[in-house]
Amino acid sequence: MKKTAIIYSFNTKKTGKVAERILEAFKPEELEVINAEEITGEIFNSFDQIIMGVATWFDGELPNFWDEFVPDLEDLDLGDKKIALYGLGDQKGYPENFIDGVGLMAEILEGQGASLVGFTSIEGYEFEGSRALRGEQFVGLAIDYENQSSMNKERVSAWVEQIKSEFS
Ligand SMILES: Cc1cc2nc3c(=O)[nH]c(=O)nc-3n(C[C@H](O)[C@H](O)[C@H](O)COP(=O)(O)O)c2cc1C
Repeated sequence: MKKTAIIYSFNTKKTGKVAERILEAFKPEELEVINAEEITGEIFNSFDQIIMGVATWFDGELPNFWDEFVPDLEDLDLGDKKIALYGLGDQKGYPENFIDGVGLMAEILEGQGASLVGFTSIEGYEFEGSRALRGEQFVGLAIDYENQSSMNKERVSAWVEQIKSEFS
């Protein structure tokens, strides 16, 4: 059986709330829960399929704990991994950098050979620019608590169904 993990910071509020929703859709034995603030290259590498929660901070940058892990990621061969990214962002507050963190992380992971899954349509969002864009899609799931929290539940459950079929 493929080993699957969800990795996010246990200290982040909104990213953590989305993680809880995602976890509800899996059986406990299907998904290991890992704190991004304690991640090592060895732990990361021990999974075949990974869901990563990556918010955008500092006007288009990764949160510190993910940024600090980038050098370790750049030492890994991720050629056998499938990775799904979800990102928190604020499309009205940061319209030129909406969920840029997801795009930044996607570029690093793909550079190491990972296959990304869980792309979603940009329909229903209003922003000016995003590093997470791939044509008419985001390279993951975009969740915006500040402006569209009523859509979170529906967006997360549709995405979980999608990644379940794209994984394994
Ligand atoms: C100082 C600051 C900078 C931010 N920069 C961005 C940004 O560049 N792009 C974006 O989409 N969201 C940005 N945000 C919004 C956060 O990503 C959003 O509030 C997110 O829900 C935070 O999730 P967390 O509480 O789980 O870390 C920023 C928020 C703050 C407070």
